[in-house]
Amino acid sequence: MIHSHILGTGAYAPKRILTNQDLEKMVATTDQWISDRTGIKQRRIAAEGEVTSDMAVVAARQALAMAGCRAEDLDMIIVATVSADMPLPSCAVLVQAKLGAVRAFAFDVSAACAGSLFGLSIADQFIRAGQAKRVLVIGAELLSRLVDWTDRNTCVLFGDAAGAMVVGPTPDAKRGLMSTHLHSDGSAAGILTIPGGGSQYPQSEEVLSKNMHKIAMNGREIYKFAIRVLPPAILEALDANGFRVDDIDHIVSHQANARIVESVLERLGVPLEKCWMNLERYGNTSSASLPISLDEANRAGRLKEGDLIAMMAIGAGMTWGSALMRW
Ligand code: ACO
Repeated sequence: MIHSHILGTGAYAPKRILTNQDLEKMVATTDQWISDRTGIKQRRIAAEGEVTSDMAVVAARQALAMAGCRAEDLDMIIVATVSADMPLPSCAVLVQAKLGAVRAFAFDVSAACAGSLFGLSIADQFIRAGQAKRVLVIGAELLSRLVDWTDRNTCVLFGDAAGAMVVGPTPDAKRGLMSTHLHSDGSAAGILTIPGGGSQYPQSEEVLSKNMHKIAMNGREIYKFAIRVLPPAILEALDANGFRVDDIDHIVSHQANARIVESVLERLGVPLEKCWMNLERYGNTSSASLPISLDEANRAGRLKEGDLIAMMAIGAGMTWGSALMRW
């Protein structure tokens, strides 16, 4: 039976670094508070004029090169993002044009920080169905333009970046994606939102003056939600494929907060060394963080052929899920 494998990975982060010390000069915070509560030391900020699709394209080109795939060979492009260049059209068609991926159809996925995992799952379904052979899945976020830089509750957390994966079919039954499990709970929608700018509160003087076009978050509720739902999501993936927690060689996780990852791994009984961590360097890059982590672990030579990789992600919505694959 056809199933899919990740054939190439790529990542990009803008050059400009914003440190916790820089933030100390902007809001009432300290390096100590941010480091202790989140594990973040610095984040990247896009240059003036740089847009989400620009970042996505750099990450995509790396993934295509590793996969030995030309842009013209792509059947499908999925961009997971909540911070596209503009509300219409999708970021994915802008990426398609910049790459010259003339044969591909392209669309965005809106599942916040879990977006890349949702995108990977969609790619897998198309490949299993025989409807696509080369799929580019990108997570790209330019959150620095959606953050209220006067709100210390949120501005210390996020960063700009992009990550990419090229996914294609493999006949090798011992390698590739085994399953993806996706979940949503819209009753928790209010805990992480950008309330303004849509059909409920269209752009207006009031939306702008009340900062309703910026990220608003109940951090404590997100934290509780994440550590409640992520361990069962990993167990669900293991159960579905007949594995145990000890069989996991690597966890590739969305990087929201080091304490969330630590707490989830502790509940599962997985040693922290099995998880690639990069929050310290990038902060929370939402949908970009999972493909960036995969790319870094891959290029660092951490992932050996046949290793069992469990992926997990959670985002606004709430949306969350897991994937299990043999590298
Ligand atoms: N610097 C200093 N103090 C701060 C800061 C800051 N940057 N931000 C908040 N505080 C203060 C608060 O005002 C509060 O003060 P008070 O007690 O006087 O009211 C105090 O610190 C404690 O605030 P809490 O929100 O209760 O702190 P908590 O220990 O919960 O940590 C945090 C906050 C880090 C946001 C945590 O709740 C968390 O990580 N939640 C998950 C949020 C997250 O990851 N969001 C990312 C997007 S969602 C996703 O990716 C899935």
